[in-house]
Amino acid sequence: MALKLDYTCLLAGGPQGETGVSADDLAAAEAAHGARLGRLRAQRAEGSVGFYDLPDERGPARAAMEYAESRRGHFENVVVLGIGGSALGTLALHAALSPPLVDHERGTTNRPRLFVVDNVDPVLVSGVLRTANPARSLFVVISKSGSTAETMSQFLLFLEALKVQLKDKWTEHVVVITDGSKGHLRPFADAHDLVSFTVPDNVGGRFSALSAVGLLPGACLGWDLEALLDGASAGRDACLRDDFRDNPAALYATTHHLLDTRVGCPIQVLFPYSHQLRLLADWQVQLVAESLGKRTADGVGVGPTPHKAVGATDQHSQVQLFAEGPVDKVFTFLRVLEHTDDVIIPEPPPGLEALDYLGGKSFAQLIDAECRATNIALVDAGRPCCAILFPRVSAATVGEYLMWMEVATAYGGQLYGVDAFDQPGVEAGKVATYGLMGRSGFEAEAARVSARHLSDAATLVG
Ligand code: PA5
Repeated sequence: MALKLDYTCLLAGGPQGETGVSADDLAAAEAAHGARLGRLRAQRAEGSVGFYDLPDERGPARAAMEYAESRRGHFENVVVLGIGGSALGTLALHAALSPPLVDHERGTTNRPRLFVVDNVDPVLVSGVLRTANPARSLFVVISKSGSTAETMSQFLLFLEALKVQLKDKWTEHVVVITDGSKGHLRPFADAHDLVSFTVPDNVGGRFSALSAVGLLPGACLGWDLEALLDGASAGRDACLRDDFRDNPAALYATTHHLLDTRVGCPIQVLFPYSHQLRLLADWQVQLVAESLGKRTADGVGVGPTPHKAVGATDQHSQVQLFAEGPVDKVFTFLRVLEHTDDVIIPEPPPGLEALDYLGGKSFAQLIDAECRATNIALVDAGRPCCAILFPRVSAATVGEYLMWMEVATAYGGQLYGVDAFDQPGVEAGKVATYGLMGRSGFEAEAARVSARHLSDAATLVG
């Protein structure tokens, strides 16, 4: 196993002081571990929860690589149309596994540029329409439900642009990734003989990064998919270990749940000290928020508040709050032990002798020093912190990390007493949007929302 979790400073009496998980609470959680793990295994065995098995199913990765190979050189741009779980994994993996700044290197690389259109802001969609020439682009339409208004509206727009430019050849520029039978996309893909991939029925959007949802863009962009899945497989096995003290997902989920419910630290700050890992934080914010922020069967709203910070950037933005603000946060530092590239800081010229301490050091040394220093500063300020150590940022370690956090989130569902795999709060917004946009069958919803929206306009100011 490559990743390591250091949770010393989450335990009461650790270097950060008494704000932490008590030995008694941790022991009680350890005693309950067997039953909780048993329920996760049962969901996996009965097939109701499928993300655990994605690393073992190499067929989609092979098919994605074959497709990408057959189309190599045809496209300047890969344009992903998708939102939420259909976009965030690809964004995170692209940041981690594609060369840094690759999308700014047009003309110097054979890799296509990636656009992820995960909003319906007209400025964004019209910008992509102008920038990514449809005739030189592959459109990857990703929607598990095959009906999400944001993705469908984008699809309609780019489909028309493709047809205008390419006539019958438009079908060569579209790949569809959706449910095997549900939604509008599957029958459309079948009717037009489009290249298509299936999101397994038992894999929800935010758990789907290791399905074709992430693999097909990855194959087009040249990621090492085998290593990604190997890493995820190793991560999954570690997270299903019987030994609580040797199970990173169980320890992560349990300590964070106890910090929320017993210590008063519901805000979970993910703090990657790595440009490559920065978008894992966005992916994780959605994973945690949408999976664990729920009403329990008793109607009580529960769940942690995930939050993103990026080192060293946010030292100059948020660390003041983190160090001296309310003690309501737990920090997870992502620390990279060996960076895949490095640059030496030159010796300062005469007149800048005050910068001698920087000259001859490397940027890897500097960012690591900043990571350790900020971690120690927060510990000294009595804040609970843990660190996940990446030997390197690679397809294998990132795959392992995705699986750690996915299993920890599934485990967290049991701790909070919620179903980690549904999203009723998101569905309510989708239905209201259908009403406001005039979808047939949603007239009552349209009337309800219209009556409420801005009904208190008298309080508008400005
Ligand atoms: O994680 C989820 O289930 C959601 O965030 C979905 O991914 C998001 O709502 C988009 O749904 P769909 O993929 O069905 O278009």
